[in-house]
Amino acid sequence: MTTFLWGGATAANQVEGAYLKDGRGLSNIDLLPHGKDRLAIAQGHLVYDKAEADAFYPSHEAVDFYHHYKEDIALMAEAGLNAYRFSIAWSRIFPTGLETSPNEAGLQFYERVIDELLKNGIEPIVTICHFDVPKGLMDACGSWRSREMINHYEKYSVTLFERFKGKVKYWISFNEINMILHKPFTGAGIAIGPDEKRQEIIYQAAHYEMVASALVTKRLREIDPAAQLGAMLAAGDYYPYSANPEDVRLAQENNQKNFFFLDVQGRGAYPLWALRMFEREGLSLDMTASDLATLAAYPCDFISFSYYASRTSKADTRNIELNTGNAAGGVVNPYLDQSEWGWMIDPLGLRIVMNTIWDRYQKPLLLVENGLGAKDKVTTDGHIQDDYRIAYLEAHLKEMDIAMREDGIPLLGFMMWSFIDLVSSSTGEMSKRYGLVYVDRDDTGKGSQKRLKKASFNWFKEYIATK
Ligand code: BG6
Repeated sequence: MTTFLWGGATAANQVEGAYLKDGRGLSNIDLLPHGKDRLAIAQGHLVYDKAEADAFYPSHEAVDFYHHYKEDIALMAEAGLNAYRFSIAWSRIFPTGLETSPNEAGLQFYERVIDELLKNGIEPIVTICHFDVPKGLMDACGSWRSREMINHYEKYSVTLFERFKGKVKYWISFNEINMILHKPFTGAGIAIGPDEKRQEIIYQAAHYEMVASALVTKRLREIDPAAQLGAMLAAGDYYPYSANPEDVRLAQENNQKNFFFLDVQGRGAYPLWALRMFEREGLSLDMTASDLATLAAYPCDFISFSYYASRTSKADTRNIELNTGNAAGGVVNPYLDQSEWGWMIDPLGLRIVMNTIWDRYQKPLLLVENGLGAKDKVTTDGHIQDDYRIAYLEAHLKEMDIAMREDGIPLLGFMMWSFIDLVSSSTGEMSKRYGLVYVDRDDTGKGSQKRLKKASFNWFKEYIATK
């Protein structure tokens, strides 16, 4: 019997800092400032070098995992975690993306991290690309607009597979691959001009990413047959707001668009509705017979997903509150509570989405992100009583448990987002805290970077121990 993986998750650009250390090059996310321009840049509407001159870039220092990794991994071990999902910064390995040989100092950093994890009995789960593209590739070929990216990504992935062969069993090719629909700059390093064909650029980039993912699945099978490669989706079913067929149809359409990526990566073929849509909308995509054969021959081994909330679709949105907090949009679900940032809180939605994904693909699932962004208060004696986070986790874990026990869904593990406080991807804030461990750093970059265990740390530790 395989051991259930209990872990925490992070992304390089949200925790590491040290953004130019030991030869690391600039990446798309280093150009994403905190503040009013962040969203427009993330969505690809505003070019990154047009941000205000005095902008603050939170990823540059983040929570300095680069220098605190030993302390942080010791805390993971203390919490009883047996898995840690993290990402590798592409530009630490290939600083511009164009080099023919990798940056040894970058590889050594991740080797130290992986060895430290293994020493502590913690399984490394590695995301190859978590909202991360070297700026050199954006400049050289327009990032994922270009077919050339497939070769660059293959070179990068193969370097990782060869170096960490036998140590890493679970690889994830692209974090939340569907986020490219909403935030092409964050997801794929692409800014899109107002006169360009936005849909065409996005679906073309998605195609190249999915071909690249299939290709490296092939390479992983050759290099390290014991390892597995997973696709990764920002999941959450779209519910119809009412039984009005217009709402039901819209929800169906939104679900199709969201699951499009897993359809291709899990089943190995484009869904028919998508091919018809490309034709109808006049999207001309560079998609060769050899690409389609690669997709068909190398579907993903497992499906990983993040789950924060369900979404709700309503055809007629007049006089209806829109759900503006979340990138996936939709309307506010009147049956649910919301987080301080307007994210719906729907524990039962986790059981629902696990069933949806399993029914569609019948592949092992791995839940790689779930958690609550909230403001935490530290008392003068350094205590953080984050009962709201405990309540969120408890409710979601209960539904996850039911989905596994009663519905029989094969779930490999649960990675909470996040083990440690980190920079928020959507807002760039530190005050939108997700961790079991608090980090003393504020939205302007001030703070000692000291780590403090929250009440949720002890709760989670207990919870895992009893399972
Ligand atoms: C997921 C991302 O979308 O949600 C993470 O994979 C992100 O990178 C997480 O941090 C939470 O979102 P946010 O915007 O609150 O940080």
